[in-house]
Amino acid sequence: MLHSVETLILRDGGCCVIRSAEPEDAQRMLQYMKIMLGETPFLLRTPEEFDYSIEEEARILEGRKSAPRSLMLLAEKDGQIIASADLQSHGKKSRVWHRAELGISVRKDFWHQGIGSALMERLIAFAAQCGYEQIELTVEQKNRRALNLYMKYGFTVYGTRPHGVKYPDGNYDNDYLMVKMIQ
Ligand SMILES: CC(C)(COP(=O)(O)OP(=O)(O)OC[C@H]1O[C@@H](n2cnc3c(N)ncnc32)[C@H](O)[C@@H]1OP(=O)(O)O)[C@@H](O)C(=O)NCCC(=O)NCCS
Repeated sequence: MLHSVETLILRDGGCCVIRSAEPEDAQRMLQYMKIMLGETPFLLRTPEEFDYSIEEEARILEGRKSAPRSLMLLAEKDGQIIASADLQSHGKKSRVWHRAELGISVRKDFWHQGIGSALMERLIAFAAQCGYEQIELTVEQKNRRALNLYMKYGFTVYGTRPHGVKYPDGNYDNDYLMVKMIQ
């Protein structure tokens, strides 16, 4: 699905553009993912594990654009992608048709500027508009920043998965399973 282009004023007085991702963003999206995955331990892939080709990424973005109940948003500044967030159906089967999944990331240089909040607000509004009844996500227990963001928007913890993530040093982190009821 497509979202209109908007200008977002950041907390430092600067601005960025929020818009939906297009297949033409594939190359810049790959660059964004490689950099962003290297900046946080709190996403499931390492930069090396994000190994899509430009063509594969373009196909994914085309799929998101054309799916009526899916939205991938980007934040862009000076021609660079600085954040992305997406919402899609949990699955195509009728019994899970009411459930959406959400993912979000922002480049470290732009944390705490209000971008994550702006993307969350737009995805939650889109989910309600699509008739989803709940939004679900998983977050590592140690990811306080993301946890605060999700709680700010009404997500609650409904379960804990032990040892959801294992790091190369042998340490684990648990995952919180979170849900926001929207209807
Ligand atoms: C989590 C993330 C998306 C937040 O994005 P952001 O643009 O910094 O978010 P915002 O500036 O809108 O801040 C949103 C809320 O996050 C929380 N937050 C922000 N900075 C924080 C900090 N330093 N410590 C704790 N909580 C913090 C606050 O609740 C804040 O709301 P408030 O400013 O009204 O108090 C971003 O830090 C990120 O991409 N992290 C790495 C990837 C990641 O962890 N993704 C989620 C995987 S589950």
